[in-house]
Amino acid sequence: MTVFTTKSEIQNYISALKNDIKTIGFVPTMGALHNGHMSLVKKAIQNNDKAIVSIFVNPTQFDNDKDLEKYPRTLDKDVSLLKVLNPNIIVYAPSVKDIYEDETKAKEFSFDGLEFEMEGEFRTGHFNGVGTIVKRLFEIITPNTAYFGEKDFQQLQIIRKLVTKYQIPVKIIGCKIHRESNGLAMSSRNERLKPEYREAAPFIYKILKLAKEKFGTKSATKVVEWVEKQFEKHKLLKLEYFSIADTETLKPVKRKSNKKNYRAFIAVYAGDIRLIDNIALN
Ligand code: PAJ
Repeated sequence: MTVFTTKSEIQNYISALKNDIKTIGFVPTMGALHNGHMSLVKKAIQNNDKAIVSIFVNPTQFDNDKDLEKYPRTLDKDVSLLKVLNPNIIVYAPSVKDIYEDETKAKEFSFDGLEFEMEGEFRTGHFNGVGTIVKRLFEIITPNTAYFGEKDFQQLQIIRKLVTKYQIPVKIIGCKIHRESNGLAMSSRNERLKPEYREAAPFIYKILKLAKEKFGTKSATKVVEWVEKQFEKHKLLKLEYFSIADTETLKPVKRKSNKKNYRAFIAVYAGDIRLIDNIALN
């Protein structure tokens, strides 16, 4: 198992590697790996000659210093998990300085409006941070294919926009949301939930499934009102947003069309932990 911590080392390794192999599959992560991440890594292994996983808690995508500070950092455990899965995986775990050098700052991007909806509205500058790090990582790793989870569906659409706009020759694969048996979407943040919130959190997916059912017969406005009411009644979980949106533009649906695909998106506070989830509606 090889772990590189500097871009010069991994770039040397990759240029030598490219003489022998055809395809590199890349999975960018912030670590604290769980089975959701692992499902992406398995795809990268199965469909490529080499799988590379990056582990880097990217400071420029956090809009909240406390969240950044508290983000779990478990590199040794992550490396062990990857090694068990496949000892040939390459890990890139750089320092902030290796990535950002002297200026830890996000670049400004335009993602044609995708960046202003939902997470973009509630987490100022978040997608500039994501765009900056993912573009940088693509330049360093030069993968053929990169794997992103539908758990962060807005992020996935923004990455697709990034590679199109900047003509980055990377194929982007979206992967299904991996859930716990109780329906809660796996997330590195779940580990920080206090027991009563952990018990309450599966309510989020339960409501998403019911919203999907209702969307079959009711208008988007009615479904949104219904979901908001369910959370008003909930003692522990606080709804930040619930949106039914077009999967391409991410704009809230006004009138349903059977030519379009829709998804429901949700962000909820469980105490001070913010959880997001989404579901395909048609
Ligand atoms: P992170 O939250 O660590 O997630 C890394 C990748 O794993 C993302 O593509 C995310 O969508 C996916 N993922 C997380 N939980 C998942 C689940 N339950 N099922 C399926 N996929 C899941 O997303 C980031 O890191 C960062 O923003 C990053 C892209 C690495 C840039 O810093």
